[in-house]
Amino acid sequence: EKGGYDYFMLKEIAEQPKAVADTLLGRIDGSGSLSLDEVRIPVSVLREVDKVVIVACGTAYHAGMIAKLAIEHWTRIPCETELASEFRYRDPILDQRTLVVAISQSGETMDTLMALRHAREQGAKVLAICNTNGSTIPRESDAVLYTHAGPEVAVASTKAFLTQLVACYLVALYLGQVRGTKWGDEIEAVIRELSDIAGAVDTVLETMEPVRALARSLADKNTVLFLGRHVGYPVALEGALKLKELAYMHAEGFAAGELKHGPIALIEKDLPVVVVVPSPRGRSVLHDKIVSNIQEIRARGARTIVIAEEGDDAVVPYADHLIRIPATPTLLQPLVATVPLQVFACELATARGNEVDQPRNLAKSVTVE
Ligand code: M6R
Repeated sequence: EKGGYDYFMLKEIAEQPKAVADTLLGRIDGSGSLSLDEVRIPVSVLREVDKVVIVACGTAYHAGMIAKLAIEHWTRIPCETELASEFRYRDPILDQRTLVVAISQSGETMDTLMALRHAREQGAKVLAICNTNGSTIPRESDAVLYTHAGPEVAVASTKAFLTQLVACYLVALYLGQVRGTKWGDEIEAVIRELSDIAGAVDTVLETMEPVRALARSLADKNTVLFLGRHVGYPVALEGALKLKELAYMHAEGFAAGELKHGPIALIEKDLPVVVVVPSPRGRSVLHDKIVSNIQEIRARGARTIVIAEEGDDAVVPYADHLIRIPATPTLLQPLVATVPLQVFACELATARGNEVDQPRNLAKSVTVE
């Protein structure tokens, strides 16, 4: 049942190109527009939405952080992403014009379920992004977009995350489409790139051997830090979460701009720091800023592990280890940038002798609050 792999996690990492393609299947029509009729919230209601609130936990929350950037950029609707476990305790401002998006692989996470119940009580419409057919969260929502990743058995979420991202991009682009905001060449181009993204994920998977070797060489370290900006920040958080839950190591993700506000004090000789570098073509200011961050930490002795686009030569002089990913539109980069971090955590956990599919103290779905 593990299909020849030692662990479900390895199998699920390898399945990602197919999972991503399956999530897109039938949702982009021949003319390059999105057809999401399955989202049974009337277009008239979607046109009136004046705020989007995303609730989720763990890895799904990281997908939600990226979704916020996509939704605001492509639709100009204000969007906030919130940890489901915090949501209802702060008396959030919700009404009939709020669209709440609940993201959950299992569809059974109690924190997320309680957040969506609270949202519906306040009159908000709830759209679930879920991987498990007929589970509680989609049953209690107004609409559902299934991720079609297939069953995810390993506790650490991998293919569910990538397909949650795809579903979030679809929702963002669809909202843009029905509202006609910012609907232009960029969105059409992104839909085209999204249809080909499975190939890019495959390319990353084919080049992972050096990442595995690097992970094995770090098995006796105590701490690994992760830095990113914009969409790279949630990717950094996700890389750190994978390492915590699988390798039981101290791992932290930071927004790279925050370094100088405190975390740079942590940098010492030989500390491994993974940096997710944004595309030099998209928001080039961010790219240049992160290159200076890499220089700063390297000058203080950090061992820099740099994830950068193919052809980005500016990072080469400052990268002790360079992991290449295919060029993608800025907002789609997490689909390729996260994969090396999954492989890295899985290999490091194996090297430390940990149980990869069933990490200590964790359950696949958390059905208590
Ligand atoms: O089933 P859900 O997507 O609602 O689960 C949410 C989190 O519990 C889950 O993503 C968790 O953080 C993973 N183990 C991370 O790998």
